[in-house]
Amino acid sequence: MDRTMIQSLLEQYRTPLYVFEESLLEERVSLLRRSLPKSVRLCFAVKANPFVGRFLNDIVDRFEICSPGEMYICEKQGLPAEKYVLSGVHKDEPSMRYAFEHGLCGGILTAESMNQFELIVSLASEYGQKVRVMPRLTNGSQFGMDEDETISLIRRCREFKESKDAPVTFAGVHFFSGTQKTSLKKHRRELAMLDDFIDRIREETGLEVPELEYGPGFPAIYFEGEEFDEASYLEEFSTLLAGMRNHIPVTLEMGRGIAASCGSFFSRVADIKHNHGENYAILDAGIHHITYFGQFMAMKHPICEIWPSRKSSEDDPVWNLCGSLCTFNDLLVKKLPVRDLKTGDVMIFKNAGAYCMTEGISLFLSRDLPAVVWMKKNGETQLLRQAEPVWRLNAGIQNY
Ligand SMILES: Cc1ncc(COP(=O)(O)O)c(C=O)c1O
Repeated sequence: MDRTMIQSLLEQYRTPLYVFEESLLEERVSLLRRSLPKSVRLCFAVKANPFVGRFLNDIVDRFEICSPGEMYICEKQGLPAEKYVLSGVHKDEPSMRYAFEHGLCGGILTAESMNQFELIVSLASEYGQKVRVMPRLTNGSQFGMDEDETISLIRRCREFKESKDAPVTFAGVHFFSGTQKTSLKKHRRELAMLDDFIDRIREETGLEVPELEYGPGFPAIYFEGEEFDEASYLEEFSTLLAGMRNHIPVTLEMGRGIAASCGSFFSRVADIKHNHGENYAILDAGIHHITYFGQFMAMKHPICEIWPSRKSSEDDPVWNLCGSLCTFNDLLVKKLPVRDLKTGDVMIFKNAGAYCMTEGISLFLSRDLPAVVWMKKNGETQLLRQAEPVWRLNAGIQNY
């Protein structure tokens, strides 16, 4: 976003404001495609940024949908059901029925427990639909199932395979063990484990694993001074994938790695003060609007710039950037050097395109949700959400 674009944005919209940029999102996906093996498919985890799914449809292969809400979002955005991976640790019967009734089960359904599997089987039989099921292998948490249970599920799929009107087929193995993974050692261990498990499935069930859907948890860089050589990381990750014994189709399911870089968050300085020699700036946003993974007590400096644009140096006064909530924890950045800070200046927080806008405590203090804007490559903007009051949700009064 160049200066003219920033200027025009701030003339058109009030802060606080999220802006997601088409050019950055597309560049990111194309960088991933260039850096990863050609055969790898990309699945966007909608939770990372539910607003941008519709703009990714032409450039990603799938959408991972982890809750009924995300399913309705994708349906309303017109995303095609064959691209859905309906996942989630809690699949309730009414929303699964909705999925069957509305033709949303044309992609993949994950099974995170035997109970989920039985629910899928019974609904698929009832609705006369054949669905593709992918058991999720646990990483030792509440998600997914252990190896033995996963094998039992696959055996059940094999039993169905014999019958003509089988309600389910075995679509592959799903595995996700965490986000913001910078360690290639961890990928090496996990991919080796998955290779062994694929062999075990073949030996014990006689079935080939048609596909691996793997969440690599690729990291985003959020803070000044963080060093990460992404090009080498992706190269080495690709070598690890290519080195697997089992050459089966792989889909990488990711959110942060796709969407983080496309977003900026704009917040205006609403007030400034100097208490006992400390400089405080009160912003019109706060931790209810923007959270960065790995931020701790506002100690790290998120990558951000100030508008009107100017450079600051270590010799400039340091400011504590605080939010609008009535909690001492509402500190966005501590001790940030800023040249000549004034009320009305705008802080632009970068890499805010994934999770930053949904992980905050949005209902606290009944402050409005910020507007969300999509910025097209040509600089035109589209309002995706207007600033939304939440006080109504907290009023406990119906029909006012
Ligand atoms: C099952 C699953 N897949 C993919 C993701 C996306 O992770 P990331 O944003 O680290 O790519 C998550 C995140 O929680 C997840 O739970």
